[in-house]
Order: sequence, then structure tokens, then C-alpha cells
Amino acid sequence: MNDATSWRELFVATDPPGLAVLAHAAEVAVGSLHQPTPGPRSPLTPAQLRAGVRELEVCPSEGVALDQVLGELGGSVWAHGVRPLDVACVAHLHPPSVVSAVVSELTIASTNQSMDSWDQAPVATEVELHLMDFLAARLGFPSSASGVMTSGGTASNLLGLTLARSLTASRIGVDVLKTGLPPEAHAWRFLASDQAHFSIQRAAAQLGLGRDAVVTIATDDKGAMDLTDLDATLVRLDTEGLRPIVIVATAGTTDLGAIDPVADVARRARAVGAWFHVDAAVAGAFVMSDSLCARLDGIAAADSVTVDFHKLWWQPFNASALVVRDAERFDLLRVPSNYLDRGDELEGMVNLVGRSLDTSRRFDAAKVVASLRTIGQRTFATMLEHLVELTQYAAAAIDANPAFDLVAPVSAVTCVFDAPGHTSEDLRRVQQDLLADGSMVLGRTRIKGRAALKFTFMNPLATNADVDELLAIIKGRLTR
Ligand SMILES: Cc1ncc(COP(=O)(O)O)c(C=O)c1O
Repeated sequence: MNDATSWRELFVATDPPGLAVLAHAAEVAVGSLHQPTPGPRSPLTPAQLRAGVRELEVCPSEGVALDQVLGELGGSVWAHGVRPLDVACVAHLHPPSVVSAVVSELTIASTNQSMDSWDQAPVATEVELHLMDFLAARLGFPSSASGVMTSGGTASNLLGLTLARSLTASRIGVDVLKTGLPPEAHAWRFLASDQAHFSIQRAAAQLGLGRDAVVTIATDDKGAMDLTDLDATLVRLDTEGLRPIVIVATAGTTDLGAIDPVADVARRARAVGAWFHVDAAVAGAFVMSDSLCARLDGIAAADSVTVDFHKLWWQPFNASALVVRDAERFDLLRVPSNYLDRGDELEGMVNLVGRSLDTSRRFDAAKVVASLRTIGQRTFATMLEHLVELTQYAAAAIDANPAFDLVAPVSAVTCVFDAPGHTSEDLRRVQQDLLADGSMVLGRTRIKGRAALKFTFMNPLATNADVDELLAIIKGRLTR
């Protein structure tokens, strides 16, 4: 039977009674975040976590009061998550969230605009375009540039490389989205450094070229692309009849934070007629700092750039962008549909689905704009610069400590090190024990075959003293 009065309370209404319901729920939800114990994670075992979660019946035959559900989630879920704001949470490019973005998530979800079509997101479309213009300007792009938000760096890289593949095909008269890959595609290659993110390989696989179509270029001791090897590779591909259709520069590699020589790579890409994509998922935020932005010199020559707001812009997942120097390139992606992107809309009604690999899509631009307006450029840049300095401090402290060995010079916010006299098994044990007992979420990786531990500094509240303490804890565990 229709019971609209009680159903109404299930939905977000923007009249005073509806907002009172939402405000109460938000207050209870915020209260459920309170953590009585410190640390980067609770020490519960995987089995204990599973048992706690399995106690929650997903959909009981009669609904449970929201206050109770929020309390249960607080006790069995939020209490046991990782806590990116804890100074001992240093494993991944996993930022603490800023308040401005989190409360914006509430408003984004409440209003539930969908970014695929103008008729589902009239003003939201304008906000996203405004943010993309801001980012494009920061990157130094001309006014022809624009972009689109995506779910992450992986998706942004895929989108950039999809455009590159479509453009290459269109230049030989092939509509690759319609008729598939032409025979010439067997010779198409993506070039990226051996430290590039694995999403480049995944993109090559998804685009039908196969992972083997990614030719890796050697890196120097910092982990940045070696131009001599790039030049030699371009010559070799030419003699083999293979065609570099994309050259990817990484601005901030995942492990070492290395920034490829963007301007030099750009020149080579232009010389061979390849699309130039910059994966700036990590260091893209450097465009916000007058002192750090010089490290991205040459980025304005890119055809496409990936920037992850959910890394060094302190946004909750998901928030990424692909910016394209010539927004008309997005036309290569358009697949008309009868109900959505009909092409006969009134002047100015942009359907962003034409730029995206997604259809329905969140209005994540709102939280980014709210955060940037709240933080302001000066504080944003200072927090970022602090993280880079903190990483340099960690590198110096590691260098000065005979218990540790820096694996590579630091370039951004990651610091990779090992422990002389200890095996990779020792490093594994220390990292896993710290994770298991909840005292540190520490990174562990391999650089050119060498096992290593890794700090990733995403939390601007962390200090040099915190770094000293983390190193002391690790040293203590190694000698146990
Ligand atoms: C350089 C780089 N590119 C792309 C990605 C993928 O980003 P996401 O996890 O947002 O898909 C990462 C992830 O860490 C990265 O470090």
C-alpha cells in the first residue's frame, strides 16, 4: 500500500521539514565518526573484521531506524577503517579529506545532479566546465583547452589514450569507434617510462593494442625518463616500421615521485607526430605553487594531462580530471544516442557525456571548487610545499641514519628506502607486522628489483618530529 508520508522521510527534500531530517541524520553520522582510540587503523584481524561486518543484515525485511544504522556503521565500519589523517598512515597516495569537500559530498549527493546531460545537470555542467577552465589555465593551456572529470587517474589516462588512438585512426580515414582497429594498428606503440603507472598498460590492453604495445623507456637514478634511451627507442621503432602514436611523460611517478623531463619529451613527441600525454596524477597539484610549478615546465605543450584531485588536492575519492589542449578532440569520442546526446539541443546546452567514457556521473567538481575557494591558493601552496619539504627531511634523516639506505633521491612526496643487512623478507615482516598491529600503514614496493619500504606524505599536519618517530619505530622493529 502507498504510504507516502513515511516514505517521504526516506528521501532528501529541500523544504524545512526535509532539511531537518537531513540535518539530524548528518549530526548522527558525524557523531559516528568519533574514534576513541588513536592510530592509523584498528588492530582487528581480517577474520574479526569480516565477522563484525557479517553481523549486519544487509536488507532486513523491516527497515531499521537510520540513527541505529548509522551507529552500527560507526562501530563496525568507521572504527576499523584506515585513517589517512593519522601521521602513521604513510603507505599510499591516499589523502586525508578536507572538511569543505566532505560537506560538499553531502550536498552533491543530496541534489544528485548527473553530469551526462545538460537536462540532468544544468548549472553543474557550468561548474565543471568552470573548474576545467581554471585547471587548463593553471597548466598554461590556450583557451581552446577544456576537460572533463573522471573517477581517477586510471580513467583519465584511459580517456587521454583513447583520444590519441582515435585521432591516429582518423588521420588515415578510419573511425575506430565505428569500425574497430585498422590493420595499421599492429604497428602502433605507446611509449612510457619503466616507472609509468600500470594504467598505461591497462589502457593499451583495453584499447585493443595489447600491453605489448607499450614500449618502456629506461629511467635515471631518480626514476625519471632517460632521454638518451627515448631517442634510441624512437630510432629503433622507426627502423622496425613501428609507429609511436603516444608518448607519455609521468609527472610524479607512483613510487619515487619522479618527474620526467616534460619539455624535452614534448619536443620529441612533436617531432615524431605522436600525441603527448602527461600523467600528472601525482604532481599535477604543483601547478598551484609558484615554487613547485617550474618542475612541470613544458606541460602546456601536452595534448592531454591527467590530474588527480583525490591525491595532493586532499579530495575524497573520486575526483580526477583529463584536460585536453584542444577541446574539439573530444568529438572523436562522441557516440550519438537517441535519448541523451541528440545534438539538437538549444544553444549552450552542453552534454558532457560527449567527453566521457562514463554515462551517469557524479558532480564531483562541486567539492573541488568548494575546497579551493575555502583553502585559497596561498594556503594550498604552502601545505603542498610543506609536504615536499617533509619528504626532503625524511630523505636527509634516512641518509644520516646507518640503519637505512635511501633507494633513490626524492622528487615529490614519496621516499623509498631499505635497511642494509636486512632481507626483503625482513622488510615484508616489518611492514606486515606494523599493519597488523595497527601502529603504522607503511608502504612497501620494489624499485628495479630491489625490495624497499616507502613513505608517502599526504598529510600536511605531519612534522619532522613525526618522521623521526616513524623511523625510530621501523628501526626498532627491524632489530626485534
Ligand atoms: C602516476 C599515477 N598515475 C595514475 C594513477 C592511478 O590513479 P587512480 O588510482 O586515481 O586511478 C596513479 C595511482 O597512484 C599514479 O600514481
